[in-house]
Amino acid sequence: MRTVLGVAGGIAAYKAAHIIRRLRELDHSVKVVPTANALNFVGAPTFEALSGQTVTTDVFDEIDTVNHVRIGQDAELVIIAPATANLIAKIAAGIADDLLTATVLTTTAEVVVAPAMHTEMWQNPATVANIATLRARGVHVLEPAVGRLTGPDSGPGRLPEPEDVVAYALSVADAAGSADAAPGTGHAGQSLDGRRIVISAGGTREALDPVRFLGNRSSGKQGIALARAARAAGAEVELVAANIDSGLLTDLPAGTTVTPVESTLELQTAMRASQPDADALIMAAAVADYRPEETTESKMKKTGDDGLTLRLVQNPDILRGLVDDRIGTQLIIGFAAETGDAQTTALDYARAKFERKGVDLLVFNDVSDDRAFGHDHTAVQIIGSAAGEITVGEEFQGSKDDVSQKVIATLAEQLTHLESTP
Ligand code: C5P
Repeated sequence: MRTVLGVAGGIAAYKAAHIIRRLRELDHSVKVVPTANALNFVGAPTFEALSGQTVTTDVFDEIDTVNHVRIGQDAELVIIAPATANLIAKIAAGIADDLLTATVLTTTAEVVVAPAMHTEMWQNPATVANIATLRARGVHVLEPAVGRLTGPDSGPGRLPEPEDVVAYALSVADAAGSADAAPGTGHAGQSLDGRRIVISAGGTREALDPVRFLGNRSSGKQGIALARAARAAGAEVELVAANIDSGLLTDLPAGTTVTPVESTLELQTAMRASQPDADALIMAAAVADYRPEETTESKMKKTGDDGLTLRLVQNPDILRGLVDDRIGTQLIIGFAAETGDAQTTALDYARAKFERKGVDLLVFNDVSDDRAFGHDHTAVQIIGSAAGEITVGEEFQGSKDDVSQKVIATLAEQLTHLESTP
């Protein structure tokens, strides 16, 4: 695909290098069009070496090729990352005083804008109005991430991670390209614009007393990666976060709603409250199957020399409950971390779980060798069904971000398919 990458003058301009890399890996030809200010952050030779194409900023360079209109006319996709408040204002006003703004004004391709700026600039009414103008004209604006900005301040305004920018841009291009295609034909990366996705993540804690609990080792990284992928595909996202480290939550893109919960019963309440408005629900949280029958109000004391017997009662199966009360074409996705044994493989256990839970998709990973918990890499197989038969996808290995993009692309495809099936 012929992609133009516009780069404006912000500290995040260096991340454009990773975006070029990723696009080139995906066989895009990449024409980088920086603003003059962007070249104060990253030199033209870097962009030229990575893209394999010449780099100019001025409409009077390479005038013989009528660059200022040709680049925009030739483009099949335009990505601007980072986009500063100034550049966004110029595009909203239709100004064309350099090669990048002229390119944007000329192109008929989909335009994806990934803003990056200080929080005050992002929240300024002028920028808010400019973003609304761009969106109303069909420009696809990615929400900035929340986190550390230039200097000591932090808040919404960070450029999303390069892989999130690329995933979003590809989902936009794919949705545009497949607008006339038959639904359910397997397009990965369809847009989730206007969809609401609720994701549970982390691990529940069941209190024994005010200071002790029964818990598990789930970090919540997979759920956070899913939230990022869903947001990058354009969805409105709520993350129901069970005991996730606050440091990890700063990786969430701006606009993600976080509902903190602790116990299984709290998680169930949050999911059930959000079910009516959700297009899809993903249960990625590690949920305790049992909780102590009694929770003491004050700290339990050690008594005598004997051991302690705890009586546990069963927790509700939240996923099963969501499936039982499914609304319309709502899609429900579960996760299954399984180990095998001498008689049964982990995959067979997962297949049985898929049937028992009644979910639309089950993301299975084999944790026999403790591969998933707290690590950044994972390997999954997506179990689903087609024409009444259980289908098991190929094993997919990668970072939790890669896996999440795969799950979200499958979810988007299934949603379209479900809605088009009478
Ligand atoms: O049965 P198991 O715990 O392996 O099922 C895993 C899936 O079920 C996960 O999606 C998990 O979030 C969900 N689950 C649940 N309620 C429980 C236990 C698990 O929703 N009590």
